[in-house]
Amino acid sequence: MSITLKTINHVGIPIWDRRVSLKFYRDILGLKVIPSMVDSPNIVWTRTNDGTMVHLIEPADGENLVDPHTAFEVEDFDETVKILRSSGYPELSDTGERHDGQKCIFVNDSDGNRLEFTTASGLKESKRVVDALGYTSESGKNFVSNSNTVIDILTVNHVGIPINDRFECMRMYRDLLNVKIIPHQIDGNTLVWTEMVDGSMIHLIAPPKSIGPRGDGRQHVAFEVDDIERAAEALVNADVEIVEGIGTRHDGQQFFFVYDPDGNRLEIATRGNHSNTRRMVDENGYTSENSILL
Ligand SMILES: [Fe+2]
Ligand SMILES: [Fe+2]
Repeated sequence: MSITLKTINHVGIPIWDRRVSLKFYRDILGLKVIPSMVDSPNIVWTRTNDGTMVHLIEPADGENLVDPHTAFEVEDFDETVKILRSSGYPELSDTGERHDGQKCIFVNDSDGNRLEFTTASGLKESKRVVDALGYTSESGKNFVSNSNTVIDILTVNHVGIPINDRFECMRMYRDLLNVKIIPHQIDGNTLVWTEMVDGSMIHLIAPPKSIGPRGDGRQHVAFEVDDIERAAEALVNADVEIVEGIGTRHDGQQFFFVYDPDGNRLEIATRGNHSNTRRMVDENGYTSENSILL
């Protein structure tokens, strides 16, 4: 009896106004707007090339931004629910089912990060259609994105999740969710790199907070591209500021950071190859090289 995370099903990103956000996510990043399978009218469903979704969430009450969340697709949903129910973690939701048959449940980790667990998407056929702004209805003409951006977001490479207590949070990510702790490929030792079955990663980011002009930048979503130079050039041409990078990590992963119109920190990255790394990692994610702790 255990939980297995297969991949990232979607990320939920808080936004104020879809009209502003879609100019960025749909027109510049090239994410495809797809019909929403939930009833809340305040969520825009979009997806990357491989089907991993990005849900842009406006405040339901018009006033308070929601917290970001990450949704993981699990091997066995019913088993996962049972284990979560007996785990004692707070803010465990009831299970829900979407119009496409996808089931979901939410829980908080020990640092208050919102996590969602789901089945696969698209289990039932749906005739829902969507307009260019992500408003979904049961019938009508379906909008097909035709952004001519050169950026091709392949998938979500990883999510960065801020944590305060590394040892406490290992009880969730390592012991309960069974994500594999892998050596990180950066400098210092404030990040724990973990990997799911398909190579998608969760980066748990310990203090210090990375305080910049826009607050703590630890929480972020990393989108994967093949051609990072091309993506960077397209963003610069669209007047999006690159705030960090282009840099290269020890596994060859190239990356840079931007902010979306609402100040959500986003990373654009290539896929690293850390299959034959010389680095070693302990059970808490502390990484060493040549037996020296980084
Ligand atoms: Fe979600
Ligand atoms: Fe990252």
